[in-house]
Amino acid sequence: MALGSKILLVAGLLTLVACPAEAQTAAPSGAMLGAACVLCHGPDSAGAGAVPGLKGHNKDYLVVMMKAFRSGERPATVMGRVAKGFSDAEIDAVSAYYAGLK
Ligand code: HEC
Repeated sequence: MALGSKILLVAGLLTLVACPAEAQTAAPSGAMLGAACVLCHGPDSAGAGAVPGLKGHNKDYLVVMMKAFRSGERPATVMGRVAKGFSDAEIDAVSAYYAGLK
């Protein structure tokens, strides 16, 4: 099972046992966070125009890039702003999700 699916499964199980207020603090779902990326990165995440694709990269690459965008270490047009909204745990979850896409 892909790591993204495992995270989804865990998040789903947590939601089942938690009351709604606690569900908000459950592990972030990579698939849910990743839904915000397809607008620019293409519906199948293979890239769109000048925007590079996300699938096919390994998880470590995606984590390092997201953190570099967030810190400003990697110059960006929009990714710096996108990445600033992500905690380390969320970067981990969304990177695992995209690395698991085939
Ligand atoms: C508003 C459009 C937009 C959104 C939304 C967006 N991206 Fe991007 N992304 C870009 C652009 C444009 C680039 C190229 C770098 C730049 O100029 O910002 C990029 C580059 C990247 C790269 C580097 C890829 C490489 O080949 O090195 C990663 C990783 C990435 N985005 C991840 C994400 C993730 C994860 C999300 C969703 C949480 C996301 N992006 C949402 C536009 C977007």
